[in-house]
Amino acid sequence: MARETWATRAGFILAAVGSAVGLGNIWRFPFITGQEGGGAFLLVYLLFVALIGLPAILVEFVIGRHTELNPVGAIRALGSGAWNYLGWLFVAIGFVILSYYSVVAGWFLRYTLIGVLDGYAIADTGEAQALFGTVATGIDTLLFHAVFMALVIGIIAAGVRRGIEIGVKVMVPAIVILLVGLAAYGFTLDASTAAYSYYLSPDFGYLAANWTSILPAAAGQAFFTLSLGMGVMITYASYLGEDRNLVADAGVIASLDTLVAVLVGFVVFPFLFAAGLEPGAGGPGGIFVSLTTAFAGIPGGRVLGVVFFGMVGIAALSSAISILEVLVSYLIDELGVSRVPASIALGVAVFLLGVPVTIDLIFLDLFDLLADGILLVLGSLLLALFVGWVVPDIAREELSRGIGDLGPFGDAWIWIVRIPIVVVVAVSLYLGVVDYVEFLTVDFAEWLAAR
Ligand code: PHE
Ligand code: NA
Repeated sequence: MARETWATRAGFILAAVGSAVGLGNIWRFPFITGQEGGGAFLLVYLLFVALIGLPAILVEFVIGRHTELNPVGAIRALGSGAWNYLGWLFVAIGFVILSYYSVVAGWFLRYTLIGVLDGYAIADTGEAQALFGTVATGIDTLLFHAVFMALVIGIIAAGVRRGIEIGVKVMVPAIVILLVGLAAYGFTLDASTAAYSYYLSPDFGYLAANWTSILPAAAGQAFFTLSLGMGVMITYASYLGEDRNLVADAGVIASLDTLVAVLVGFVVFPFLFAAGLEPGAGGPGGIFVSLTTAFAGIPGGRVLGVVFFGMVGIAALSSAISILEVLVSYLIDELGVSRVPASIALGVAVFLLGVPVTIDLIFLDLFDLLADGILLVLGSLLLALFVGWVVPDIAREELSRGIGDLGPFGDAWIWIVRIPIVVVVAVSLYLGVVDYVEFLTVDFAEWLAAR
C-alpha cells in the first residue's frame, strides 16, 4: 500500500507550522521568560533557536524524508542495536506532553466559553487571578480536557489533513494580527516602559549568576516550541516524498514560531507590570490573568477575547494532533493496527494520564519539567548524535535533495550537529536533570508532606 502524502504542495509546511505554533508560544513562553529573568532568558532562548533549533529541525527532516517511516521505524531502518530504543523514547514523550497539553488547551476553550456566556467582567487583577483559580483545576477542567482530547482523537481518526491546512492558513495570520493589536494597546499603558526594559534588555549580571537554570530552561523551551525531540518533524517529513528545499522550510517554521512567541511577550509583560505583579508570579496563569485584565478594559474586549482564546484553542489543536499522529503512525506502521482503533486507544490513554493535572497543578510541573527539561532535550541530543555520527553521509545527501550542491554548507551542518550542538545540549540536559531532582526533593516532597 502506498504511504499517504500531503494533500497539497503547501501541506507539509502548513502542518509543520501548525505543529510548532501553539501553547508553547502563547502560554509557556511568557511564563518561563517571567520566571527566568526576562531579557536574559530571551537572549539565550533566541540564540538557542537560531544556532541549535534550526539545525535540529533539519536533523529530523532528513531522517523522516529519507526513510518515509514513523520515528520508531525510521531509526530502526537506519540504525541498529541500542538505537532501536530511541523510537520508544519518542512514544513515551508524546504521552507525557499531550496529557498536560490537552488540559491547558482545555483552559483556553473554557476562557472562550466564559467570554461567550458572561464576558470578562474583571474589576482588577485580583479578580482575574481568582477566575484563573476556578478554571485551572476541578471537575469542569476535567470535562474540557475530555472535550479537547475528543477533538484530537476525532481529527486523527478521520485522517483529515485538508482541514488542518486551512485551519493553519487562517489561524496563524489571525493570531499575529490580534497580538500586534494587543501589543499596541499594551504600549499605551504607563507601565510599558518598565515592562519593555525588563523584557528586552538582558541583565548580564543576572545571566552570569543564573545561567545554570536559564540554559536548561531555554533548551527545553526551544525544543518544545519547535516541536523537536520526539519525532513530530520526522513523522511529518516522512509524508513528503518530494524534493522540497528543507533548509528554506526550516527557516520559515522557526521564524514564524519565534515571531509569535516574541509578540506574546509584548502583550503579557506590559499588563503584568501595569497590575504591579512580579513578571513570573502569575506562573502558568500569567497569560490568562494579563489577557482577561486587558479584555475587561478594552471596548469590544469581549469579542476580541472570544476570538483570541478560540484561535489559541485551534492552534493548540493543530499542535496536539501532531503529537497523537506520532503515536498513531507508530501503531499503524509497526503493529498493523488500523487508524480508528489506534487513535481511540492511544487518545484515551493520554486522557487518563492527564487526569491528575486537572486535580492539582503540582502535576503540571511534574510532567512539564520532566518532558521539557529532560525528555525533549534527551531526544534531541540522541538524534543529533545519531545523524552526526551514525548516518552523516546519508543525512548530508538527503539534505541536498531539492536544493542541489550544498557546497561547504552541508559539511558545516554535520559538524555543527556533531560537536557544538551535542556539547551544549548535553550540558543543558545535565542541568535539567539537576533542576528536576531539586523539584522532586523540595517542591514535590513538600507537596506530598502536606497531604
Ligand atoms: N510546538 C508545540 C507548541 O509550541 C508543542 C509541541 C511540542 C508539539 C512537541 C509537538 C511536539 O505549542
Ligand atoms: Na511553538
